[in-house]
Amino acid sequence: MDKLIIEGGQPLKGTVGISGAKNAVLPILAATLLTSGKNIISGVPRVRDVFTMIRLLSELGAKLESFEGDTIVIDTSKVNHSEAPYDLVSTMRASCLVLGPLLARLGQAKVSLPGGCAIGARPMDLHIKGLEAMGARIELVQGYIQGAAEKGLNGNRIYFDTVTVTGTANLMMAAALADGETILENAAREPEIIFLADVLGQAGAKIAGQGSDVIIIQGAAALKPIECRIFPDRIEAGTFLIAAAITGGDVEITHCVPQHLEALIHKLQEAGIHVEAGDGTLRVKGGNGFKSVNVKTQPHPGFPTDLQAQTMALMTVAEGQSIIVENVFENRFMHAAELSRMGADIVLDGHTAIVKGVAELSGAPLMATDLRASASLVLAALAAKGESVISRVYHIDRGYEGIEKKLVKLGAKIRRIK
Ligand code: UD1
Repeated sequence: MDKLIIEGGQPLKGTVGISGAKNAVLPILAATLLTSGKNIISGVPRVRDVFTMIRLLSELGAKLESFEGDTIVIDTSKVNHSEAPYDLVSTMRASCLVLGPLLARLGQAKVSLPGGCAIGARPMDLHIKGLEAMGARIELVQGYIQGAAEKGLNGNRIYFDTVTVTGTANLMMAAALADGETILENAAREPEIIFLADVLGQAGAKIAGQGSDVIIIQGAAALKPIECRIFPDRIEAGTFLIAAAITGGDVEITHCVPQHLEALIHKLQEAGIHVEAGDGTLRVKGGNGFKSVNVKTQPHPGFPTDLQAQTMALMTVAEGQSIIVENVFENRFMHAAELSRMGADIVLDGHTAIVKGVAELSGAPLMATDLRASASLVLAALAAKGESVISRVYHIDRGYEGIEKKLVKLGAKIRRIK
């Protein structure tokens, strides 16, 4: 298993370009199942989750024709299997995104329940309730969600008790091929959801309200194959913003959408870090220290839970005390124990972390536990004195394209060993 070795203390300097958004491309790849023909998707990041989704689509009968540069061509004319097996779903929860499309396209689906993961239980009850409201019969059999809708799905009014991103995506995709109108209430408002709605719209569904908490979908009898370009990854961009700040560097981030990062940019500015937004660019100038700020994660447009771990790393070396409240997932502080091993002062109390800034972190052997937690360890190691060795790096490879190459270009002392 690969490890990352990081010698900290180097202020990052230079320019870094952001890859396409992992959480945008995964639902789009699942949505290709709703079409029959050649789908062309560009701006695709070469991250593990994308390869896992391609494997899953292949098992369902889709054919990857090419993946050249950042463009995927995938032919979905022969989709004929309806089972997403446990070994794929257990490595990537977003595999559950095929449930809605399979039910809509084939009238049946068998998708393994993802079970618990490092950041909490993460149930799928809201996906299931919504599909049942659209006329699917769903049973849980031996760890699988087994669904049938031989006569197709019907539009309905669906209210989400909790805002769920993949739940909204799953039902929106199912509704795109359902008979009649579906109204999703308390829907997710993430940029990835808006993008999916726009792409389904171009493919022939009529969708309105994306970006608000009520999305209205008129199903189509058939959808045209998808052609789209994935927008830049806001979580990767946010991670580099924090990398520049925590090392006291001066970094320009290109190919990003500053509007997607407003919650983080405001927090960094509140902490006294200089962040300047341009047209598709962000510039961070650190080096004068920064103070602690309080953060509460919320569904978009609130502060993203996917940047909570990285922000905690930053707060470990801020001036003062920060209170971080995780409102989206019940167990998303796995990184706190590892950060403490580097000398951070963190007290956990349920969903709240109290982080008292220390003068310096020290390098240590570290264990990555999930995707964003591992990003926070990389950030802490970049700022720490001495060497850190991060193991279980496969977590970070799930969602960051060539992270150490990009960091090396900015002057970081980081290398990967096999
Ligand atoms: C997506 C993102 C993930 C991000 C998360 C929250 C993708 C591929 N993943 O995950 O990176 O961290 O949004 O922004 O886009 N819930 C239920 N019942 C359900 C579904 C969800 O109770 O049926 C709860 C979850 O346990 C959690 C909350 O809703 O507490 C939000 O989860 P959700 O938005 O569904 O996260 P994901 O879509 O899995």
